[in-house]
Amino acid sequence: MEQVKFLWQSIINFKKMGTVSRSSQSMSRKMSEYIDINHDLIIVELGAGDGVITKHILDKMSPKATLFVFEINPELCEMISKIKDERMILINDGAQYMQIHLEKHGFDHADHIISALPFTILPQDLTKEILKISHQMLKKHGLFIQMHYSKNKIDMYQSIFSKVMVSYVPLNIPPGYVFKCVKG
Ligand SMILES: C[S@@+](CC[C@H](N)C(=O)[O-])C[C@H]1O[C@@H](n2cnc3c(N)ncnc32)[C@H](O)[C@@H]1O
Repeated sequence: MEQVKFLWQSIINFKKMGTVSRSSQSMSRKMSEYIDINHDLIIVELGAGDGVITKHILDKMSPKATLFVFEINPELCEMISKIKDERMILINDGAQYMQIHLEKHGFDHADHIISALPFTILPQDLTKEILKISHQMLKKHGLFIQMHYSKNKIDMYQSIFSKVMVSYVPLNIPPGYVFKCVKG
């Protein structure tokens, strides 16, 4: 049922979703594998969809860690809100406003940012704005993890982050890549 709701939202909002299929278990595991359960991290997820990656992130988090989840689509936020976890702060607003929302909750940085935002179809100015604010909010050595369906955009990340490593995830529709970008 969740798959059907996600597909419908993808069809009617394609220009903001950039996909018709939610991430696979394999992709969700890869996106969340860098979270260290032994530390009380502040994690930010951008473009959470119906929460498929969110659940994997929460599974990898320590009991006192915090997860900010940004999703602009109210229908999808309603689906995410079914995840009952006190560590999660769900925000129905654009990723570009993350600083305002984190500060409202008393946080001035993020340890890691995990993003499935469709940067290949979002307006270029918005993409630049979100990447700029993400880099600013990340603490030193923090990770920006981004999903893509091709390696075309790698230069954009290499121009912002000090190190970018790419992993291929074949078990996803379509097969994809996870960019692991390190703030120097
Ligand atoms: C490719 S889907 C990924 C969904 C889910 N994380 C997954 O992996 O299946 C991208 C999501 O980003 C959301 N989105 C697009 N622009 C956004 C923005 N500026 N801020 C927050 N979410 C946004 C869309 O509504 C969509 O749910």
